Order: sequence, then structure tokens, then C-alpha cells
Amino acid sequence: MNNQAVPLRRIVPARLAGFVGPVVRDDDGIIEAMAARHASWNPAQLVNRLPLTARLYESVWRVRSLGLLAGRPFPVGEELAELAAALQPALDGGGVVLDVACSEGLYGRHLAHGGAEVVLIDHSRPFLRRALQRCAAEGIDGRVDAVRALAAHLPFADGSVDAAVMGGSLNEIGDEAAALAEMVRVLRPGGRLFCMSLVPADAGPARLAQLLAAPNGIRFPTAARTVAWLGSSMRLVEERCDGIVLRITAEKLADRPSSGPGPDAG
Ligand SMILES: C[S@@+](CC[C@H](N)C(=O)[O-])C[C@H]1O[C@@H](n2cnc3c(N)ncnc32)[C@H](O)[C@@H]1O
Repeated sequence: MNNQAVPLRRIVPARLAGFVGPVVRDDDGIIEAMAARHASWNPAQLVNRLPLTARLYESVWRVRSLGLLAGRPFPVGEELAELAAALQPALDGGGVVLDVACSEGLYGRHLAHGGAEVVLIDHSRPFLRRALQRCAAEGIDGRVDAVRALAAHLPFADGSVDAAVMGGSLNEIGDEAAALAEMVRVLRPGGRLFCMSLVPADAGPARLAQLLAAPNGIRFPTAARTVAWLGSSMRLVEERCDGIVLRITAEKLADRPSSGPGPDAG
């Protein structure tokens, strides 16, 4: 008789292969992975932890906002088509994507519909709960996981994902450089990053709105600064700006073997 114990196996989907730590889902289905050290929360981040914000954000504000901010009609369908096209070379119908600071997971859900395996990341539990509900309602919950974590401390191994996206969150994230550096770190060579953010307005109502938003911790880094934060391991593929709406696509360069001292050395 074979008395060998059958080891208990935890079934971990491929999208969590690079996850650092035990994959334990709480009662809401969310994987808790907040770093021990908390960022100091700004007012915008605190508001985003309210269930009411999570319920209203996407349908009331998100789907209209780019049209208002771009100064031209900019329907959400156009934004999502741009996102999918930007990532296509890295995903090609599949692959693993992190949607960082996802809110209700607008980007991640769209990419999951296109066949990607998606990990939604946010610090706000109400937003992650809402995102998972929407995934279930849309029939894509089998391709999505939700992880509660800080953008500046992504609980994924180096080079473990095919794409990392961030839609509109750079402006409130608090530590923009660290968040982008983390997205770059977890990308595999050839992996792609897509980031939509708002740049400074020169004048008019947008400038006034930005001044009023500043005390809430909202910041508006320039395009040049945002690109510089990506660092030298990324190749800029595309930079587009409509009004104050910036979209950046970049690709992680292949690891280059150390070539030793250059011709001028010595
Ligand atoms: C403007 S909303 C993002 C919208 C979403 N990406 C989209 O495209 O619809 C900002 C989101 O960033 C999240 N967030 C802000 N700071 C964060 C941080 N440091 N780490 C993780 N999530 C953060 C908020 O909880 C909120 O869900």
C-alpha cells in the first residue's frame, strides 16, 4: 500500500509566478501585500479609500475626464485602443500585465478581455473589491487577480511581467520616481510600459484646477521629467500629448552583457 502523503499544493495562476510572498486571498479575494512601511497618505489617497469614491469614480468621472482635459473629444474607447496597440508587441494576445494603481481596473479589464493575464494593484481595498466585482460581472475573473500593495513597493520579482500600465495615477501616487522605477524593475526585457498622466497646464481653467488640486497632494510632472524617471534601461517608443493628457509607451531594453571598459579607458 502506498502511504505517502500527497503534498498539499497551492494552485497559483501563471500571472502570479513572479509574486513575492505567499499567495493568500482574503474573504474578498484580495491578496494582501502592503509593505510594512506605509507611505504618508495625501488627501487624494485618503479619499480613494472611501467606498463611495470607489463606487462612483469610473462611471461618473473617469469615462468623461480625458475629453475635458485633452481639449478635444477623447472617448475612453480611443484611450483603450491606444493602450492595447501600445502593448501589443509585448503581449501578442496573452502575457502578464500589472495594472498599477488601478482603481476599478479600467486598463486591466480591457487587457484581460484581449486575452492577457492581469494583476490589479492598488492600496485602496474598496477600489480592489469594486474592480473584482466588475471583473466577475464581465466574465473575466478567471484571468485577473487583485493585490493590495503600494506602487513604490511592487511585490513582484525582477523581470517577471510582460507589461506594466498606469492610468492617471502618477499624479497622486506620492512617490512618482519610485513607482515608475518599480514598474521598470518588474518588466522583462522587451516588456512594455504604458503610462497616462496629466502634465502642467500653462493657463486657463486647467491651470486653476491644478493649483486647487495641489493641496490634496496632486502633482503634475512634465513629460520630460516623467520620461527621465524611466531611466536608461527603457527605450521610449512613443510620447503623445493632447492638452494636458500625456501618454508614454516605453520598452525595456534587452540585458546587455557587460562589455568591459570602453575604448577610451586606460
Ligand atoms: C486617478 S485613480 C486611477 C485610475 C485608474 N488607473 C484608471 O485608469 O481608471 C488613482 C488610483 O491610484 C491609487 N493610488 C494612489 N496612490 C497609490 C499608491 N501609492 N500605491 C498604490 N495605489 C495608489 C488610488 O487608490 C486610486 O485608485
